[in-house]
Amino acid sequence: MNRFIQYNPVKWIFGKGSMKRLEAEVAGYGKNILVVYGGGSIKKNGLHDEVTGKLNAMEARVFELPGVEPNPRLSTVHKGVEICRKENIDFVLAVGGGSVIDCAKAIAAGAKYNGDVWDLILRGESIEEALPIGTVLTLAATGSEMNAGLVITNEETNEKISWHSQHLFPKFSICDPAYSVTVPHDQTVFGIVDIMCHILEQYFHNGEKADLQDSFSEITLKKIIETAPLLLKDLENEDHRAKVMYAGTIALNGTLQSGYRGDWTAHIIEHAVSGVYDIPHAGGLAILFPNWMEYTLEAHPARFKQLAVRVLGVDDAGKSDVEAGFEGIRALRQFWTSLGAPARLADYGIDSSRFGEIADQAMLRGEFGRFYPMNRNRVLDILQASL
Ligand code: NZQ
Ligand code: ZN
Repeated sequence: MNRFIQYNPVKWIFGKGSMKRLEAEVAGYGKNILVVYGGGSIKKNGLHDEVTGKLNAMEARVFELPGVEPNPRLSTVHKGVEICRKENIDFVLAVGGGSVIDCAKAIAAGAKYNGDVWDLILRGESIEEALPIGTVLTLAATGSEMNAGLVITNEETNEKISWHSQHLFPKFSICDPAYSVTVPHDQTVFGIVDIMCHILEQYFHNGEKADLQDSFSEITLKKIIETAPLLLKDLENEDHRAKVMYAGTIALNGTLQSGYRGDWTAHIIEHAVSGVYDIPHAGGLAILFPNWMEYTLEAHPARFKQLAVRVLGVDDAGKSDVEAGFEGIRALRQFWTSLGAPARLADYGIDSSRFGEIADQAMLRGEFGRFYPMNRNRVLDILQASL
């Protein structure tokens, strides 16, 4: 096992009734609070009234930034930064899924930066400070509630770029699975696929003697595979929602990658695809990830066989590692499509006409892929295989 430092200061407030902590968690940061949310789901399910009611009862000055888009846009971040500057915002509260949380993080950084926050994101710069943020999570998927990362789309340049800073860790995240029961079927599927991909992107690593970490990942994947069909038949089941929400946070809060670093190729290519085509993040992953697996299978067959046998129910008797690994990839793809995830870029009407642009975006920060090194031609191969 390699040496590592793990740092995660987020207060993770999980479970039914967690909202009663809101006032206590927000108190002490100041009276001017910006509430950031999306296209209206929190108005429909009553969460907006609940949150603003509590903040108003604290005599906070509450400002709002509604309308954060899935794949949050830079122009929306700019609107939030402007409110922060004009109204002397002390604290940013994100109420929503990953897009809302990421937008709030970018606003928090931008508010303390004397310039355009996009420059920080694009250049991957370090920062010294950001406004404090908190989150109320409504959709289990990205893990943004307990990590220091964000992904923002510059809609003018079609660049969708991730960035992280330890100043972007939320101070707290209220994760009550009850707030996710209204997530529709398709977004629930996307959440499940995203969580599984986060685990898998870390699982494909070159670290040694990480069998305990492998087991964490494998059991988490198995539990998700077991729970997903049950949840999709019973979207309001809070026990199933709780399991998936817990898994979503664990999947990307640093726990699963202590001692080694994952690969993240599918995420890098997917961000480039959804930057250009504005498709749902995990819809893109469901298409790209199995094709990345097939592309890299023969370089690391033992790893793929391990996943196939331990997680995807493949019997490897009489099969080579490649054969067993391939069966596992097929099983994973089949599992995702059985849930309703797309399998081909054509499902989103995407053809090869902008592959060059997508590959350029993916290569923006140079070559990548720790488990299997990538370059522009390889990105194009994976895109081609995903058509
Ligand atoms: O906008 P509203 O009306 O709230 O509706 C949203 C949105 O349409 C809806 N939704 C969320 N909670 C709901 C609900 N509908 C009903 N009931 C609820 N309780 O779901 C839709 C999708 O929301 P979004 O926040 O976009 O989804 P997700 O959480 O999957 O976030 C996706 C974004 O996060 C980025 C992705 O690239 C994408 O931009 N990621 C962020 C990461 C991070 N910060 O660590 C890592 C990820 O790999 C990912 O890249
Ligand atoms: Zn993801």
